[in-house]
Amino acid sequence: MEKKNIDWSNLGFGYVQTDKRFVANFKDGAWDEGTLTEDPNIVLNECAGVLQYAQTVFEGMKAYTTEDGRIVTFRPDLNAARMADSARRLEMPVYPEDKFVEAIVKTVKANEAYVPPYGSGATLYVRPYMFGSNSVIGVKPADEYQFRVLTTPVGPYFKGGVKPLTIKVSDFDRAAPHGTGHIKAGLNYAMSLHAIVTAHQEGYDENMYLDAATRTKVEETGGANFIFVTKDNKVVTPKSNSILPSITRRSLMYVAKEYLGLEAEEREIYLDEVKDFAECGLCGTAAVISPVGKIVDHGKEICFPSGMEKMGPVTQKLYDTLTGIQMGRIEAPEGWLKVIE
Ligand code: PLP
Ligand code: COI
Repeated sequence: MEKKNIDWSNLGFGYVQTDKRFVANFKDGAWDEGTLTEDPNIVLNECAGVLQYAQTVFEGMKAYTTEDGRIVTFRPDLNAARMADSARRLEMPVYPEDKFVEAIVKTVKANEAYVPPYGSGATLYVRPYMFGSNSVIGVKPADEYQFRVLTTPVGPYFKGGVKPLTIKVSDFDRAAPHGTGHIKAGLNYAMSLHAIVTAHQEGYDENMYLDAATRTKVEETGGANFIFVTKDNKVVTPKSNSILPSITRRSLMYVAKEYLGLEAEEREIYLDEVKDFAECGLCGTAAVISPVGKIVDHGKEICFPSGMEKMGPVTQKLYDTLTGIQMGRIEAPEGWLKVIE
């Protein structure tokens, strides 16, 4: 199979149309078999549930070319389970988890020519998503849904690759207690757009959201969880019911303990204690681990000792081990890699 003629090393995090996408429809209480299609467009009724009341959920994952030339995805079963949770919270039918993984495999395979080569620094981003497709005017769930999987080759999420980021402590809240912060619903991202545009205009890369109830605890950013490293090399990450349970973060906590022999703890983290940490990073599928150099809280700067030029040493080890596992350089725990064959 010949790869597409793409300048892989200079890709940013943008949409590049690929050849095939997967589509399945839910109607009369059941999902159809689903199929691959070449048509990237969707025609919807003007009153579709997704257009009127934002009834949509999604996932994000990547396909990698390993050092020995296989194509793999990373823990797709966890994306399947999280999408099922998201669907239940928005009163949508669950797309069966085994079918979800099958759809990912089919779509990546059909777009093999777009999976960036090993060592290029790029990956194939995979975006499963689902939305209410029939007309709805009273506030209620749709009866018909579409589940789709699109793929697009991507480079680093943040411009500048692994250069440490500057984060603003936001005055906006991302999620309410008992709200939808723990699921991957489009609505969480729509309401974050004003905050991110504002942060960018002020020269920041991202927002740190605090817990809405007390505004004293660290939650997450618009698209990634936080990890911190204490001065005695312990990895800590915020525990909260209103943040997205990041698969990258869960994997990193395992890597910290089982591969690097570090202590790792998920606990409530107060904004007040952030100044005492030695390192900070953002973790997620798109972000991988992006180091944070500085957090600004209403003019008060918190600068991490590793500075604005490079990752801190523990963050670097976590990054090298995680990406080593994803690219097949380091043996993966049982069940973490799904080989596309
Ligand atoms: N938090 C938010 C709000 C996200 O959008 C994402 C991205 O999916 C993450 C965290 C990271 O999650 P994951 O590591 O599963 O990609
Ligand atoms: C991901 O990391 O997959 C996400 O969905 C985050 C998004 C901000 C691109």
